[in-house]
Amino acid sequence: MAYRPLSAVVLAAGEGTRMKSATPKLLHPLCGRPMLLHVLDTLVALPLERIVVVVGHGAESVTKTVQELLATEIPIEFVEQRVQRGTGDAASVGLTAFADTLDAEDDVLVLAGDVPLLRSESLAELATEHRLADSAATMLTAHLDDPTGYGRVIRDARDAVERIVEQPDANDAELEITEINPSIYCFRRAFLAPALRRLSPENAQGEYYLTDVIAVLRQAGHLVTGVPSVDATETLGVNDRAQLAAAETILRARINERWMREGVSMVDPARTYIEAMVELEPEVQLLPGTILEGRSVVGRGTVIGPDCRLVDTIVGSDATVTYTVARESEIGDRATVGPYASLRAGSHIAADAHVGTFVEIKNAEIAEGAKVPHLAYIGDAEIGARANIGAGTITANYDGRDKHRTVVGADARIGSNTVLVAPVEVGDGAYTGAGAVVTGDVPAGALAKGVPARIEEGWANQKVSDVDLDDGEE
Ligand code: UD1
Ligand code: CA
Repeated sequence: MAYRPLSAVVLAAGEGTRMKSATPKLLHPLCGRPMLLHVLDTLVALPLERIVVVVGHGAESVTKTVQELLATEIPIEFVEQRVQRGTGDAASVGLTAFADTLDAEDDVLVLAGDVPLLRSESLAELATEHRLADSAATMLTAHLDDPTGYGRVIRDARDAVERIVEQPDANDAELEITEINPSIYCFRRAFLAPALRRLSPENAQGEYYLTDVIAVLRQAGHLVTGVPSVDATETLGVNDRAQLAAAETILRARINERWMREGVSMVDPARTYIEAMVELEPEVQLLPGTILEGRSVVGRGTVIGPDCRLVDTIVGSDATVTYTVARESEIGDRATVGPYASLRAGSHIAADAHVGTFVEIKNAEIAEGAKVPHLAYIGDAEIGARANIGAGTITANYDGRDKHRTVVGADARIGSNTVLVAPVEVGDGAYTGAGAVVTGDVPAGALAKGVPARIEEGWANQKVSDVDLDDGEE
């Protein structure tokens, strides 16, 4: 088998009008990752010399997104197709990134950017078949029950691929053909370049069709091979939002299956949504309605759900998170959160801490073993270790102009319905009485009570009556 270096050209300049969207089609996400990135992830798993991305519509945002989100050692280059004159023109533009086209001794994968379900294994197999048969072009094909919209593969009497006909150009007999072109090809680069120059836009769409290269190569006497894909779902092209949803459903099932094989339990995988970049440890249990997004990470033995949405949130091990929404937050080992908690950006719930029912936390540290069990708003705050925050406690963190911090010391006990008017500090082991409105600092061990609260120094060391103190626990 002739080994030749392999590169890839990804066609990503089209507008994707069928999406009816201001966002370029290839930036629409599937399982939280833009469609084009899934295709590039597939490519970077192969030993490629380089990857050329043909950009055009939304070139700047497409380029920026790829640069931000793709981690690889393989050189990625972007070339611009200024006017979108068809896939054949896009491929020609892609080849301008290569020097010495005519005596080139390498192969180039050419694929559309809208095939997010394609697997690396299938591309590797395509390249292997291409080399084994020593073909000028090798294309993946797929048999679909409903081939509507795809180019159809026309085979000759000897069952070899002869040409591809696009849906708008096909006659009735051709429309009956169920073997389709998924737009995934491997070419001898030296043969592709001259074939592209032979294309003409005399067709129903007035475009330069890359698909016509197949007939051009055949007519020039070259060998063209069609490799039917083993799993037709891999070749699904996404042109509209219905196809996007269909592709996402398949991708989600694949992601879930991978995690279950890694030791994650899901009561109902069909109701479990894990984005592409999420990381899970074994023995995680996901209950129905769990949505894990972005760079969320969940540690061993943690139970999430039912009905949780975690975005860019890191959860430790053996924690419990129930009916909760969390964003850009951290939840420590053995911490318990919910039911019905909202953790907004910058919430750090330390190990063994508890955030309970109808509690909103924002930009706050809840230290080890601290408890905010019921009906509270804790924003721009530090709550010390083992402190207890009574029901109804509010950090009044905003004076209408600026945000201010609240600091509550270790082992402090904040009574029900306390308002902590920031900036304010409550010392270690201090108390506040039910309904206190605390406008000044409370020294360690003191009690603050009343409206605005009166300070009684040294109170914590005296005997306390139940009337003065209600920390809000059942
Ligand atoms: C194309 C194929 C069709 C195949 C289908 C598979 C052609 C002529 N047709 O049709 O046989 O069944 O894919 O999904 O190739 N693009 C550019 N520049 C352009 C036009 C398109 O970069 O000028 C890019 C698009 O961004 C997209 C890819 O090429 O990633 C395919 O374009 P699209 O318009 O989706 O082609 P289809 O109509 O789906
Ligand atoms: Ca397409």
